[in-house]
Amino acid sequence: MPTHKIALYPGDGIGIEVLDAAVRVLDHLQSTAGDLALEYERFDWGCDHHDRHGVAAPEDMLDVLRGFDAIFLGAIGFPSRLADHISLEPLIRIRQAFDQFACVRPARVMDGVQSLLANPGKIDMAVVRENSEGEYISMGGVYKTDRPEEVAIQTAIHTRKGIERILGFGFDLARKRRRRLTMITKSNAQRFGMVLWDRVLESVRGDYADVECDKLHIDAAAMDFVRRPDRFDVVVASNLFGDILTDLSGAITGSLGLNPSANLDPTRRHPSLFEPVHGSAPDIAGKGVANPVGAIQSAAMMLDWLGESDAARRIQSAVEGALAAGESTPDVGGTLGTEGMTDRIIERL
Ligand code: NAI
Ligand code: MG
Repeated sequence: MPTHKIALYPGDGIGIEVLDAAVRVLDHLQSTAGDLALEYERFDWGCDHHDRHGVAAPEDMLDVLRGFDAIFLGAIGFPSRLADHISLEPLIRIRQAFDQFACVRPARVMDGVQSLLANPGKIDMAVVRENSEGEYISMGGVYKTDRPEEVAIQTAIHTRKGIERILGFGFDLARKRRRRLTMITKSNAQRFGMVLWDRVLESVRGDYADVECDKLHIDAAAMDFVRRPDRFDVVVASNLFGDILTDLSGAITGSLGLNPSANLDPTRRHPSLFEPVHGSAPDIAGKGVANPVGAIQSAAMMLDWLGESDAARRIQSAVEGALAAGESTPDVGGTLGTEGMTDRIIERL
């Protein structure tokens, strides 16, 4: 029986609250399922760490994390304490340095949960966000800072290799689902980078002739996420567009607090990172009402990735059972707090 070494990175705000909830679920599973062995180490990086040491995470963070089988993150950032581009930098660094190029974000309306849309149809999609390049690379600079003539340059890069591998990942995923893939770009206005996405799609789609495939511009896609979200199966998008669309997919499936994500290095050369889609929600931090389901489902995705698919399925069905019985936190219309919701899920395990 292999022991999986997990790095815990709770972060800030409700990140800490939902990570603790998910770890309770993992602990319970471990104590009742004789064949699951997890070993954790906790890293209290984030705003407190910045107060004490002047950096949100230590210089050698990547070397520390490299030895783990997976990284489990709550959420980071607390804008009233520290500028977001400083607090979030370690997360972007991990995704890029560990080549976690495929960010997978499933979103579906679960039984017992009400979509924010009046007539949602059957929403069941997986957004695959390119996670290693695109608009989130740290390339650019400012000139004439704080002067009226100040200039800021922020460069995005889109590479043939990067687009090929994320589309390949998306097509493979579509083959395990409903065999439909929609690629999101803005190639009518961004004529170099986004047109490369179009050209690469044309060059690879023949290899996946069994998958129905189409394209949408991001503006039209945003509308269709609201107007007819049931048309989507696998959605492949650039880093920025995938980020934006998955807050929207959270809302239309009931609450952003429900949705999980996996930042995968599919080659398995580096540890992959699992985290809820949501951020640290300073508006509700410390109140004990954060929905732990996004984090708990992320823990299930992590177990699945580590080859513990039975354990993952058990978590998933406990979550679904609790929600179907009407047990939920205020963001989904219920009255339970983070702990109460976690208790209900654990009772069902
Ligand atoms: P957010 O996702 O933290 O919150 C957006 C809205 O959703 C808020 O009204 C919040 O209360 C609600 N919400 C989010 N998660 C919830 C949950 N589990 N249960 C109930 N309600 C929930 O996004 P926001 O407010 O834009 O960002 C807050 C901070 O989080 C910022 O510092 C931002 O940079 C950071 N952030 C970090 C991410 C990460 O660590 N991966 C991702 C997104 C944002
Ligand atoms: Mg986001």
